[in-house]
Amino acid sequence: MTKNKVYIETYGCQMNLSDSEIVSSILEKSGYQIIHDATNADVIFLNTCSVRDNAENKIKERLKHLRRNKKDNKELVVGILGCMAERLRQKLIDEQEIVSMVVGPDEYRKVPQLIDKAYKGEKGIAVKLSRVETYDDIEPLRTDGLSAWVSIMRGCDKFCTYCVVPFTRGRERSRRANSIVNEIIKLSESGFKEVTLLGQNVNSYKDMEANIDFPALLAAVSDAVPDMRIRYTTSHPYDMSDRLIETMAKYDNICNYIHLPVQSGADRILKLMNRDYTVEHYLERIAKIKELLPNASISTDIISGFPGETDEEHQLTLALMRQVKYDGAFMFKYSPRENTKVWDMPDDIDEKTKTKRLNEIIELQHQISRQLNENELGRIHRILVEGESKKKKTEWQGRTDTNKVVIFTHTEDVKIGDFINVKITGSTSATLFGTRV
Ligand code: SAH
Ligand code: SF4
Ligand code: F3S
Repeated sequence: MTKNKVYIETYGCQMNLSDSEIVSSILEKSGYQIIHDATNADVIFLNTCSVRDNAENKIKERLKHLRRNKKDNKELVVGILGCMAERLRQKLIDEQEIVSMVVGPDEYRKVPQLIDKAYKGEKGIAVKLSRVETYDDIEPLRTDGLSAWVSIMRGCDKFCTYCVVPFTRGRERSRRANSIVNEIIKLSESGFKEVTLLGQNVNSYKDMEANIDFPALLAAVSDAVPDMRIRYTTSHPYDMSDRLIETMAKYDNICNYIHLPVQSGADRILKLMNRDYTVEHYLERIAKIKELLPNASISTDIISGFPGETDEEHQLTLALMRQVKYDGAFMFKYSPRENTKVWDMPDDIDEKTKTKRLNEIIELQHQISRQLNENELGRIHRILVEGESKKKKTEWQGRTDTNKVVIFTHTEDVKIGDFINVKITGSTSATLFGTRV
């Protein structure tokens, strides 16, 4: 019997989700079959994240569980892909007995050949970072059919002092604009309704040969597929240009949603983080967004308990949140990462204080989201229908242009992928409820 069934489990950010689709595509071309359940797999991959310590701990726990799978099937191959593979390299092989292959984000073309080696009992490792690899010629294997991730660049050159990504993903490089546009036209032709352009810092996208920057790419994509919704993530506040905001305002099919990570509301901390902007600059960018895109929703990332963060500085973060009124936020405790610049600074905010500050941030965001969602009552939104809601089969869900989930009662005439209008009739801090109009 041929051993060709591969199961991939994905952790971390959207870049990893997109990379798993690239790996799947590479594998299918080499005769492997991608399956969606670990039980009968010949190969199990974990596509991993290193951004915080708890992300890595989750993987270590998962590996403990997989020992049982390995006991049941001695020939099972377990491999680590992604950022943890890149960061820990040989250590993963040395410390995790069941792991037989370790492949970093720029070496996915080697996955089939490493599986062959692993079948022969050889352990394999491929973790070289590249200055040019963008997997431009590989069409990701997508299963959703509605909404697609399209990676437009890889790596990051920002070197925020707390962040491991520049080390796990290497130098920043952009894909060719025409290959991106062609991929999205194909997606549209095969029925996709929404696309999200991905990069760690999309604002610094640049196709050097064609002289196309991010606003120009966004405009080209929007022109090419006027019936598709276009989203993107992530923007860096330093590079959030007027031209980008103007482009968003000009095109109806570019969604009114911006994820603009602020990290902290204190200038001294921003400087220590090497974020390259001040609170004043950030607020000026927000003002421009609110001026040109009055209906846009805005979300952010916040790190609490950065080394040396005083209580006043924590209060400044809360004050900034009150001022901007984010629709949503991803909120984290600072987690020291080896090799980063701050690694050498003492992680001196004790756990109790970190937790207290984080809880205050979460509680405040909760209140703000609840309030903003209450303001939606009575408004009419055009939503893209995604399918059954997670809780009840008779209830379906869709998403507004502003990236909010709306739950509505399903009727026979509504299909996945339809755009319908709903009037908002209820809300919580996380969800809107609506009826079709
Ligand atoms: N490139 C994106 C996101 C990168 S990682 C950006 O710059 O916004 C996603 C988020 O994880 C970051 O925005 C940051 O808030 C958080 N993060 C990164 N490193 C971290 C660390 N060492 N501890 C805690 N949170 C961290
Ligand atoms: Fe990390 Fe900063 Fe790059 Fe984002 S911009 S990935 S936080 S180094
Ligand atoms: Fe994690 Fe790597 Fe993404 S560290 S956040 S999976 S780029």
